[in-house]
Amino acid sequence: MKKVFVSIFECKPGMRIAEDIFNEYGAIIIADGTVLDDYLIERIIDLGIHRVRIYDTEGNVIEVSNSELFRAQYNENVNSVKNILHDISNGKKIDTERMNHATRSILSRINENRDIVNCISEMRAAGEYLYTHSINVSLLSMLMGKWLKYDFGKLRSLVTAGFLHDIGKCKVPQEILNKPGKLEEEEFEEVKKHCVIGYQLAESFDGMNEDILKGILQHHEREDGSGYPFGLKGDRIHETARIIAVADIYDAMTSNTYYRERFCPFDVIECMEKDYFGILDHRIISIFLRNIASYYLGEMVRLSNGEMGEIVHINPFNIARPIIKSGIKYIDLSAESKVKIAELL
Ligand SMILES: [Fe+2]
Repeated sequence: MKKVFVSIFECKPGMRIAEDIFNEYGAIIIADGTVLDDYLIERIIDLGIHRVRIYDTEGNVIEVSNSELFRAQYNENVNSVKNILHDISNGKKIDTERMNHATRSILSRINENRDIVNCISEMRAAGEYLYTHSINVSLLSMLMGKWLKYDFGKLRSLVTAGFLHDIGKCKVPQEILNKPGKLEEEEFEEVKKHCVIGYQLAESFDGMNEDILKGILQHHEREDGSGYPFGLKGDRIHETARIIAVADIYDAMTSNTYYRERFCPFDVIECMEKDYFGILDHRIISIFLRNIASYYLGEMVRLSNGEMGEIVHINPFNIARPIIKSGIKYIDLSAESKVKIAELL
């Protein structure tokens, strides 16, 4: 039977759901194949899930691709961040319900890795960087937690920390945040305050824990002590903050205008491997980049020497330089320092 996506608000009692729905603790509360009734529809809405897959028997439902579904939810979440930050900067209390809805909706898509990796680099609206960045960091941190085999409670904290990591920026003057080009020293000192301000703001929210608070406070700390606000080193930096740091930098690099023109994920991977060695947690960055790179297995590429081929193997010791199959020959880019991937086709 064909599976289609519908908005939960268009779901009617009698429709059959075509996916497992999880609650906030990761337990299945509605199993694939269950016939929906009013109560179950309400439960799904409460979980912050706005679109679900259902089996099509009538032929009168809207068909949406997986990516379209992901994008629709992504945009709703960006709006949530925008509203939350707006409220905080106007001195209002945080809308905890809205925040919980957004984090639940991010968690509900935990198995759609490929859409996350593909979509985050495309979803950029001018002037919305802070909001899209918050969602992207939250999604990427969630994937990282999944690859580190985190339990659901820890994953939820990670998603919330990613979502809130830059909330302190709502108290940093807009002129500084939006200033093009390099910041003056005093301006940079102002920006640096967002970690402590974010921590202080989050302390007053309901449902926070140490993982979330330390993630916000320490996400600019660096392994070698070169970060801020305290210059903490290595193990003294909370793991949530070390994960957010990797997601934060990856997202900033993929959204950089230099890469926007001809975004090649392997350039970003190479740059992160080289430039952040000893600065970001080595174990986290390797797991992260290896997994990100694995989504490109099977993709066709054009090499800098003009040859075309398919990515057939990711070298775990040199992630940015995979093995390419071109015709009948195999090109190991880790052994060919002069050739690199020029673009994905
Ligand atoms: Fe930050």
